[in-house]
Amino acid sequence: MGLNTTIADNKGWNLAVSIKDVNKWYGTHQALKDVSLDVESGRRVVVCGPSGSGKSTLIRCINGLEEFQKGDIVVDGVPLRPDMRGVERIRENAGMVFQQFNLFPHLTVLENCTLAPVLVKKVSKIAARETAMKFLEKVRIPEQANKFPSQLSGGQQQRVAIARALCLMPKIMLFDEPTSALDPEMVNEVLDTMIELAGEGMTMVCVTHEMGFARKVADSIIFMDAGAIAFSGTPDEFFNGNDNARVKDFIGKINHA
Ligand SMILES: Nc1ncnc2c1ncn2[C@@H]1O[C@H](COP(=O)(O)OP(=O)(O)OP(=O)(O)O)[C@@H](O)[C@H]1O
Ligand SMILES: [Mg+2]
Repeated sequence: MGLNTTIADNKGWNLAVSIKDVNKWYGTHQALKDVSLDVESGRRVVVCGPSGSGKSTLIRCINGLEEFQKGDIVVDGVPLRPDMRGVERIRENAGMVFQQFNLFPHLTVLENCTLAPVLVKKVSKIAARETAMKFLEKVRIPEQANKFPSQLSGGQQQRVAIARALCLMPKIMLFDEPTSALDPEMVNEVLDTMIELAGEGMTMVCVTHEMGFARKVADSIIFMDAGAIAFSGTPDEFFNGNDNARVKDFIGKINHA
């Protein structure tokens, strides 16, 4: 990325995320069933699986956007209880990027990036702007700083969303299908940004069906089915070495999409 910005000091092998026996219900519908997952610092986990299998629910539980009813989630050593104690600290440590960008439409790109650092982290406005410009350079759109989100392409907006998340200096980045709302020609600019982040050692949990990305950066691939983790392994095990019928069926469908 050409810019010497340290994103996170997470080269160690401590656990960035520890999820143990998490169960989550929406009313009577059980969306997560005894889900357990450890993510070591500096590792990249790709989460895939059919629609409705609980991928978004899982990732949203990790940073407290959804409550869960049973189990334990610990993010960078901070426990998140089912009653949501610990949620503020966890949100500071975990940056989130959504499918629909979720930028504030009435704020400029720069203001989108400085709002939370100033309000939540009490960073001075000058320092927040300086950091924001560094990360906008990192995602290669510093020249868009004073525009509004509606004046940007989808790919540019998503890169702003990534820069905005990085401005909080997260220990881990969570992505929920960050490229699926993009026109095809913009997918790669966002994936390239994510690949570069991975190359710098950022801990990442990505819900995505971009299997080229998964092959390139994932340390492990999680396949979810009906609220449970049905398969977990290396990309090689996922693509070549497993006889899980559902995984095979899923890969077949993706390859023919
Ligand atoms: N707010 C909600 N209220 C009730 N049920 C919900 C809610 N959000 C999700 N669900 C249900 O929980 C299950 C898991 O949903 P989730 O969004 O986690 O799936 P997903 O794997 O992310 O699917 P997709 O690939 O379509 O994004 C689905 O059956 C869904 O209908
Ligand atoms: Mg989803």
